[in-house]
Amino acid sequence: MQSAPIAGDRCPGRPFSDSQSPVEGTLWRAASDRIIFTPQPARQVCSAGDLSERRFMQASEESKVLAKRALIHLKNKTTDQAAGTLELPASAYVDAVRYEREVDRVFRHLPLALAFSVELPAPKTYLAMSVVGVPVVMIRGEDGVARAFINVCRHRGAQLCKPGHGTAQRLVCPYHAWQYDLEGKLTGIFGEATFGDVDRHTHSLTELGCAERAGMIWVNLTPGERFDIDEWLGDFKEQLDKVELEKWHVYQQSEFPGAGWKTTWDGYQECYHHGVLHPQTVGAYTITNLIVHDTFGPHQRMVFARRSLGQLNDEPEAQWDADQHIRKVYLGFPNIAVSAVMGGYCLVNQVFPGDTLESTITRQTILVRDIPTTDGEKRHVDEFADIVLRAIRDEDTPINRGIVQGLMSGRSQGVVIGRNEPAVQHFHKSLERIMEKSTRPAGA
Ligand code: FES
Ligand SMILES: [Fe+2]
Repeated sequence: MQSAPIAGDRCPGRPFSDSQSPVEGTLWRAASDRIIFTPQPARQVCSAGDLSERRFMQASEESKVLAKRALIHLKNKTTDQAAGTLELPASAYVDAVRYEREVDRVFRHLPLALAFSVELPAPKTYLAMSVVGVPVVMIRGEDGVARAFINVCRHRGAQLCKPGHGTAQRLVCPYHAWQYDLEGKLTGIFGEATFGDVDRHTHSLTELGCAERAGMIWVNLTPGERFDIDEWLGDFKEQLDKVELEKWHVYQQSEFPGAGWKTTWDGYQECYHHGVLHPQTVGAYTITNLIVHDTFGPHQRMVFARRSLGQLNDEPEAQWDADQHIRKVYLGFPNIAVSAVMGGYCLVNQVFPGDTLESTITRQTILVRDIPTTDGEKRHVDEFADIVLRAIRDEDTPINRGIVQGLMSGRSQGVVIGRNEPAVQHFHKSLERIMEKSTRPAGA
């Protein structure tokens, strides 16, 4: 997947200057490469105050329960576990035919959380990106509804919008200036009298199934396939709702290449390696090899313990601020990790298969609950962003590249996933179940 830096990218020049433009008025620039997207109240994505309050109370109570579970593990030097170990052959990661089938079935036919609601902060805003080779544009219409289209003109196929964010009154093709409204209808054909017969009604943009839930925009990349997002998320929606992503602000986004999809994604689903691989970065804050794990269909919640967890033993439970001592990570199948970190920061990683089975693109987003206003506040967020970027790009990625090289060598005996890595196991088992259920041939 690729998308441009989020600020200021726009559709290319065209005869109609009012059609598309970079996002304006919704950006807050904290530093040269720091961008803030702010939610706009007119869009009705914020919860009512009492709902928000209720969610907060529920989340606090839930955090206490999770902290108690973590404290038991801390005391006993244990962790949540799967029933047994899981052995996977190298082919589970690097068999080209299997890989193509999985990417097709999972990434082209399941709902993917492609964007945050706040990335389309107002009517007439859009975000274009390429996902597993499919050019997509998501647009918030004048009615406030987010829609998704194949980002391809119905004339001769030019891409309507360059990757990145922008605003548009209408979409105007940069090649021959065909025009579409924000609901994808073909509304203008340049030189129509000379072009010949074209039925505008049958030449709308190709629409994709799209739904907005839990502060994210979910898209199915196969035209004609609709989905029930509530069914797909199930009880996981309630979990994501507690994060209230629609109320956060995008502070920084970056994209970086990595090793193969499943190898890279495995690393997001355990903290067994934190103290070993990340002693100076994320491992400095979490207790290695302690996880509290729950599943919601194919989706999951992991809770890591912060090093301060034991302090709760010295406080009356009624006074616990449990969220200061644990870190919840929500894993949306197949590729998104939402980590609402204490201190008002949220880290979201989306891992997309790259052009080959040895490559991925990770889209990393740092969100802030409150826009930092002082240099000190900005420095704190920047330090947080730098730590997680270093951990993933500079520490995880080289390890993962080595793993993939070994798996591809033809000499690997595969991998064994421990009982103490229950989330990694659940991911692979969920994938297996989804693939078993699929009768669709690859590419169909
Ligand atoms: S390709 Fe879009 S107008 Fe020609
Ligand atoms: Fe890691």
